[in-house]
Amino acid sequence: MTEIELKSPEEIEKMSRASRIVAEVLEALRHQIKPGVATEELDRFAEKFILERGGKPAFKGYRVRDKIYQHTLCVSVNEEVVHGIPSHRVLKEGDIVGLDVGVVVDGYYGDAAITVPVGAVSDETRRLLQVTEEALHRGIAQAVAGKRISDISHAVQRHAEGANFSVVTEFVGHGIGRRLHEEPQVPNYGEPGKGPRLRPGMTLAIEPMVNMGRPETRLLADGWTAVTRDGSLSAHFEHTIVVTDAGPRILTKL
Ligand code: MF3
Ligand code: CO
Repeated sequence: MTEIELKSPEEIEKMSRASRIVAEVLEALRHQIKPGVATEELDRFAEKFILERGGKPAFKGYRVRDKIYQHTLCVSVNEEVVHGIPSHRVLKEGDIVGLDVGVVVDGYYGDAAITVPVGAVSDETRRLLQVTEEALHRGIAQAVAGKRISDISHAVQRHAEGANFSVVTEFVGHGIGRRLHEEPQVPNYGEPGKGPRLRPGMTLAIEPMVNMGRPETRLLADGWTAVTRDGSLSAHFEHTIVVTDAGPRILTKL
């Protein structure tokens, strides 16, 4: 296991520039979500938007084992949990769509995700989105120097399960900075008070994935897309944050 790198103010500034582009592109994408839009159109828009602002898409060219990701966004619709591949698929009224994007500026990374409704969705679906975003913020609120990683994990789990949803355990949040994925892992479940101690300068991507039904996932034959095994809907929200003396600071927020 490699060490957790604490970032200097200069490094935080670079992450903050990358993270600002992440926040801006997600905000721009949010307004384009409507029935009839193909997920690959969103991907093309995002790539252009990021390049125009002097960033580089962080996922494009990212290698996981023997596979290389070819796109700017991960777009995960309905029962797709994470890592959905942009395609000809067209969004329709009542869908939910997860948009996950990473940007690099000057060698430093920012990473965030939102899940948005396509037109009108059911009350229970809206509740899933709201609870998942709240779970993210409960987790972030625990990102305080002196606490431990699993205090974040526990707060996320407690909020999601308290609402009768389940948290995905097969994917986790992560340290971030000079690489997209650094130490430590940030699970969305666990007892409080465990794992590495949080310190000022730690930079984390906190990213709850919450399912309406059972927590288990499986991988589609495309080698990337994770879906719920029971076919239930799944939501995902993510922010890149830094632990400071004054509490957590969200970098991927406008
Ligand atoms: N956003 C994902 C994460 O937080 C990374 C996407 S994996 C990639 O871990 F291959 F698509 F880049
Ligand atoms: Co991430």
